[in-house]
Amino acid sequence: MNCQAVGIAPQDLGGGLPLLKQIQEKQHINWVSMNLVDLKSKNPVFSPLVKTHVGSTQIAILGLTDDQQNPGPRKTYALLSWQDTLPQYVAEVAKESDMVLLLSSYPKSVNREIAQSVDGIDLILESSRHPSGNMNPLKIKNTLLAHVETRGKYLGMMRIHWTDTGKWGLDLARQIRKKQNKLDRIKWQIGRMEKNKQTAELKDNPLYLKLLTDRETFQKEILVLQKEKAAGISDPCSFSNQFIGLRSSMPDDKEVQAIIDHTTREVNSLNKKRKHSSVDRQPSALKKLAGSQVCEECHSLQTAFWQKTQHVRAWQTLVQDDQQFNEDCLVCHVTLPYYDLARVKKEQLLVHLPEKLQDVGCESCHGIAAAHAKNPESTHLDPPNEATCLQCHTQEHDDNFIYTEKVEKIRCPKG
Ligand code: HEC
Ligand code: HEC
Ligand code: HEC
Ligand code: HEC
Repeated sequence: MNCQAVGIAPQDLGGGLPLLKQIQEKQHINWVSMNLVDLKSKNPVFSPLVKTHVGSTQIAILGLTDDQQNPGPRKTYALLSWQDTLPQYVAEVAKESDMVLLLSSYPKSVNREIAQSVDGIDLILESSRHPSGNMNPLKIKNTLLAHVETRGKYLGMMRIHWTDTGKWGLDLARQIRKKQNKLDRIKWQIGRMEKNKQTAELKDNPLYLKLLTDRETFQKEILVLQKEKAAGISDPCSFSNQFIGLRSSMPDDKEVQAIIDHTTREVNSLNKKRKHSSVDRQPSALKKLAGSQVCEECHSLQTAFWQKTQHVRAWQTLVQDDQQFNEDCLVCHVTLPYYDLARVKKEQLLVHLPEKLQDVGCESCHGIAAAHAKNPESTHLDPPNEATCLQCHTQEHDDNFIYTEKVEKIRCPKG
């Protein structure tokens, strides 16, 4: 593949160091990890970093391996923490490099912390463990955080325009657009409240008053940004980012497909056994989700409509495929508690979701709503938008997703 540097994730260590060394020799892969060290000498087993250049721009590529995951028995090597390794290496290369790039297999939360606390890294490429969706790069201080989905299902392509300033531009147009979207949402909520209630009543409504102040704040902030944009800033670094999906219409490799089918069946049957052998748990991680039945009492019209959509059959679809215990499938075919996903995975709750959360329910689109169902007057829900759908309608599972068309098929009726 002619890669200049390849990071090492904990799962790459599953087959042991000898296998990695063998791959390095046979396929000329250049593994980089600064914190994967020999147990005795404490020296890095592979290169800690690679120095390269594009034109006259000097680039340093550093590698970090997540030391918190369990990569099996460690007889010959140790994994040091990023705190003990990264700051020194960055300080060392930052002086002589125009650009510093970090390949990290730590989870997003740790990479954010790195970006916050270690100055001098321009770009972190992380291996994502998010179950669904490619997220756009995130800028923290002067570090850009970027990733693509797992298992090579996507190719991430980033074009970088690097200038002497060494500072990422603010991308004012995008910021303005984001704020404008928020403003539109606030205006929508205000309009809704004004339509439903008497003006006298709204005068003392704290939520209404907050929305009015928010509207003013956002309008002011947008004006400031628009002025800045008009004034222009001197040549900052910029990038464009793209995800290229493996389309489902691409032919499968028969041999690989057979291995995948076999593994999928195994995983499903192992989870099935686990489910049957486990005692009924009280999943407190799910408390914030009400489940679709609760909504019917007050929204019978919308519930009746939803019951005619395909979303209501999403779990049954997996049952028909005998895949209802496969966590890889469940993430998009149920109502997922996104707010506590780490816990849900850790406690293996996906397989144990109560019946009311099986299927793509109201809260998949309208967000967590147990609080709203208890007290609808004081908790409002933001309307769903395209990003809501794209959590599940990824290119890989739906290469025909056109928001404006599909939303008409599922938009709940008014009233
Ligand atoms: C006890 C009655 C009640 C229950 C139960 C209830 N709602 Fe509501 N819901 C309301 C009322 C009343 C409004 C209108 C609020 C307003 O406009 O001020 C509303 C508004 C909404 C809206 C419009 C957006 C908004 O916030 O104004 C959505 C979407 C919604 N509810 C979804 C749900 C979902 C999903 C559930 C189930 C998890 C649910 N509701 C349960 C009473 C209820
Ligand atoms: C939690 C995941 C999830 C979310 C969020 C989601 N969908 Fe779906 N959607 C599915 C699944 C799974 C199916 C297939 C259900 C089946 O047939 O078993 C589906 C089916 C559909 C279908 C019918 C099949 C088709 O493609 O024509 C439409 C239309 C649709 N979704 C539109 C939307 C829109 C619009 C949104 C956002 C407002 C959305 N969905 C949000 C998972 C989701
Ligand atoms: C990233 C989200 C996601 C994951 C993960 C996912 N699905 Fe789906 N699935 C969807 C969406 C969205 C649709 C609706 C697509 C459409 O109809 O256009 C769908 C539709 C389906 C359908 C009905 C339509 C068809 O293509 O025949 C089946 C069957 C299905 N999925 C099975 C599975 C199985 C089995 C797995 C696990 C191996 C899985 N899905 C994992 C999102 C997902
Ligand atoms: C696939 C996504 C999706 C699912 C699932 C879904 N809705 Fe909606 N719902 C929408 C969209 C889109 C709108 C329109 C929002 C707008 O006007 O911007 C909407 C609007 C609403 C509204 C506001 C209607 C009005 O008066 O304007 C309510 C209430 C509502 N939904 C309740 C529910 C309930 C209850 C369920 C489950 C039984 C549910 N929704 C399931 C997408 C969904």
